[in-house]
Amino acid sequence: MLTSAWMWRRLPLRLSWPRVAKKLGLHGARYRRYQRTPLGAEIELRLVAPTTAKHVEQQAQALAVAYGVPRVRISLDSGRADRATVAIDERLSIGPLPFPDFHHPVGLPLDPLRPFELGIDDHGHPVNLNVYGQHLLVGGIPGSGKSNALRVFLGHLAASRNVVLFGIDPKRVELTLWADRFTRLVVGNDAAETTQLLEELHLEIDRRTAHLSQRAQASLRPSAEFPWIVLVVDEWAEVAAGGTNKERARRRTTPAFRQPWPCSWLHCDSLHSASHQ
Ligand SMILES: Nc1ncnc2c1ncn2[C@@H]1O[C@H](COP(=O)(O)OP(=O)(O)OP(=O)(O)O)[C@@H](O)[C@H]1O
Ligand SMILES: [Mg+2]
Repeated sequence: MLTSAWMWRRLPLRLSWPRVAKKLGLHGARYRRYQRTPLGAEIELRLVAPTTAKHVEQQAQALAVAYGVPRVRISLDSGRADRATVAIDERLSIGPLPFPDFHHPVGLPLDPLRPFELGIDDHGHPVNLNVYGQHLLVGGIPGSGKSNALRVFLGHLAASRNVVLFGIDPKRVELTLWADRFTRLVVGNDAAETTQLLEELHLEIDRRTAHLSQRAQASLRPSAEFPWIVLVVDEWAEVAAGGTNKERARRRTTPAFRQPWPCSWLHCDSLHSASHQ
């Protein structure tokens, strides 16, 4: 009987999958098709009850051991419960690739509603995101690239017309490179200055809601009169924890702190500092 990872990896997946799946109790996980990927291979499955994608997901580690690879990932198909994809990653990264130049060749401000190109996925395909009207929280362990991700957003926002940037940078070094592009940037963790900025933003929210209700509208497009206001905060937990008890209480009651609509804001928090909250 063939049992070693060495053997499973050498057999075509079409032949090895039914045997490996059976050994792991995934009797209803039927092989449909297979393709090579930049990280290894992907098998598309047809699931037969009582086997579900959840069962396959629970066996991800065992599948990685069976095939002797560093990682196996299961993707569910949101359109069909009887479909799932098993990515058998023979390596963990596709390695560094040149990032496509997204800047406009003549430097004209760009449409703020275009999808922002953020990077590449595991296949090397560009990942785009529409961020207008969204609140984004970037989370991760220390040093995982949160501030860097924030600066990718900032690059796109800074190159857009009708976008006004406000920033809070308790670390003093994460946003200051962009200081010229910010309408206002609070550097350091001064509670009074932070609260004042949030209160001013809230006044602007009031102005906008009054404008919308007069015209029986519910949303705005970025314009010269009502630019897209984006509040960028690197290390939100630091900001939330800063100041005296009285200052923290005052800030907590600031509506812009609790619910910043219709501004957008981007936070960047390390999980370790978020736990201080
Ligand atoms: N996409 C990336 N590719 C390669 N290196 C990166 C990437 N993003 C960040 N880095 C590098 O990783 C290091 C940490 O990045 P960054 O400061 O953005 O992390 P962080 O999560 O904000 O850290 P902290 O929790 O300390 O604030 C930096 O040296 C940065 O150059
Ligand atoms: Mg950081």
